[in-house]
Amino acid sequence: SVDKPWGGRFTAENDQLAEQFGASINFDQQMAYEDLQGSLAHVQMLAHTKILSTEDAAKISQGLKNLMQQLKDNKLTFDVEYEDIHMNLEMLLTKQIGPVAGKLHTARSRNDQVATDLHLYLKNRLPLIQKALHQLQQTIVAKAADNVTTLMPGYTHLQHAQPISYAHYLLAYYQMFKRDAERFDFSQQHINLSPLGAAALAGTTFPIDRDYSAKLLGFSEIYANSLDAVSDRDFVLEFLSNAAILMMHLSRFCEEIVLWCSYEFNYISLSDAYSTGSSIMPQKKNPDMAELIRGKSGRVYGHLLGLLTTLKGLPLAYNKDLQEDKEGAFDTVKTILPSLNVFNGMLATLTLNKANMSHATEHDFSNATELADYLAAKGLPFREAHRLVGELVLQGIKENRSLQDFSLDELQQQSPLIQNDVYQALKPEIAVERRNSAGGTGFEQIKKQLAVAKTELEQT
Ligand code: ARG
Repeated sequence: SVDKPWGGRFTAENDQLAEQFGASINFDQQMAYEDLQGSLAHVQMLAHTKILSTEDAAKISQGLKNLMQQLKDNKLTFDVEYEDIHMNLEMLLTKQIGPVAGKLHTARSRNDQVATDLHLYLKNRLPLIQKALHQLQQTIVAKAADNVTTLMPGYTHLQHAQPISYAHYLLAYYQMFKRDAERFDFSQQHINLSPLGAAALAGTTFPIDRDYSAKLLGFSEIYANSLDAVSDRDFVLEFLSNAAILMMHLSRFCEEIVLWCSYEFNYISLSDAYSTGSSIMPQKKNPDMAELIRGKSGRVYGHLLGLLTTLKGLPLAYNKDLQEDKEGAFDTVKTILPSLNVFNGMLATLTLNKANMSHATEHDFSNATELADYLAAKGLPFREAHRLVGELVLQGIKENRSLQDFSLDELQQQSPLIQNDVYQALKPEIAVERRNSAGGTGFEQIKKQLAVAKTELEQT
């Protein structure tokens, strides 16, 4: 036999490169805490069901707690020779408490153990993500509350469409991040399933109590089927997919920040704290953080696609391929948390060039719908109004004039329905104010949206 936890039926050592290639300790040590957490619950269950004596269980529990403390103090060292975090910790436990450590693995396999660890890993990190999302939503709402009457062009096709309030724009992102938070909430239902006790794939002959260990770990239910329990990584896919959608939202927001702090737009200025300079061009101030967050969406999408691809051809139950589930998940957590936090700081500290934003709504024909609506409200069929205003726009472009620059005489030649009150209707702030349909950019509607958002944030 060879000197491995599974060495009994072997006569020769592993090839060194194969051993290193197969080892996961370099990355799965990130869930060392969760592995100890899972083992503690497992040994408590073994004592509760009298599968182990109280005495043995107490020794093992104490050993595990010591390891937890040493982990906290950064005193544990791991070895590729023991392949993964599970066997490394078992070996360290054996060093501490002797052969009784070998009883910990009764009625358990690394297959249900690793699945349990990964469930715990995500379960333990979800609150951090929710907290960061909540802070970002608070920043958005606070900025929106300060800018209800700040005007900007609303775009479609990146062409000026209709004027809107900057608060309305911000609150659109509030809604996206609210759905992101909801998705992470929903995902708990599947993260909170306990695979522990599924053993290798088929369950165990020992009289274990899976509900007991599940409860100790804070899981709400156990997997109903042991084959599914050790093969399922849907909960990781859901996490990655939620993270990918979140990064997509951040990335769109970042794209606008990058555009808007350009010379051409000049709607916003980033704080120096979130900008960088150039090593050659002295005048430069670059929106690096926004670009980097936009760029990091790529790796998170990659992790989702990577795991989907890893899983798609796997026969039940455990296959070593499943070891590839972890690095992407860990990296995703490590990407979305700082992305959210850096974005939050960047948004909170950026300043608006309000004059430029509202100036951009004034001579851009984005009040053309206003004139068409004005005529339609006076009885002209909207299609006819649209054509008539379109012709005026064409003339305005040729003569370099805006709609409000036409004299009442000129306008009345186009339609006698037009009266002097038209100039009021053509003002951007009036255009915004009057869009008071539910969910619209009208100031009253924005105040409603803000009030709802504030209550929502207080409740979560
Ligand atoms: N390091 C392994 C993984 O991450 C642990 C499970 C090993 N199980 C097995 N049957 N080889 O998937």
